[in-house]
Amino acid sequence: MLCHLVYVSTAVAPMRDQDLAELLVQARANNERRAITGMLLYKDGRFIQILEGHEEQVQASFERIRKDERHTAVDLLWLRYAQYRDFPDWTMGFLNADEVDPETLKGYSPFLERDLRYEEFIQNSTEVHEMLQVFKENPGGLVK
Ligand SMILES: Cc1cc2nc3c(=O)[nH]c(=O)nc-3n(C[C@H](O)[C@H](O)[C@H](O)COP(=O)(O)O)c2cc1C
Repeated sequence: MLCHLVYVSTAVAPMRDQDLAELLVQARANNERRAITGMLLYKDGRFIQILEGHEEQVQASFERIRKDERHTAVDLLWLRYAQYRDFPDWTMGFLNADEVDPETLKGYSPFLERDLRYEEFIQNSTEVHEMLQVFKENPGGLVK
């Protein structure tokens, strides 16, 4: 069964461009093999990631990712069954929101103007999902 998993986490140390690039190469290669798609967002030392795919693959990937020592405070926001993938063409879309002009981000989501905080996400999961959708529909040069 297809499912979507979303979590937030905190980088143990600030991620440099090179660190993020390495992480993405590794993630995309693995995801392609496991038919996982999704999107990763990095901002102010926090990550939010959506993983989509077959339940067993998503669960297994998340178990590996949550043990990764590059981040901590890995909080699962939701795991839902879904009929479709939101990011069918992306083995892992990526946005480093720290590198985007804050004025530009304003148009995307109020979440990106503040810290990515777990409590707020839990209370506004629909908005979080919508935010991720916005990136899919209007990458506008933002998402690599
Ligand atoms: C924020 C973050 C997101 C990650 N996303 C993925 C991912 O989407 N897919 C993946 O396979 N690994 C991802 N990883 C890396 C895994 O934690 C793990 O290092 C990797 O899967 C191990 O790959 P290997 O078995 O090829 O060494 C992520 C790590 C971090 C810190």
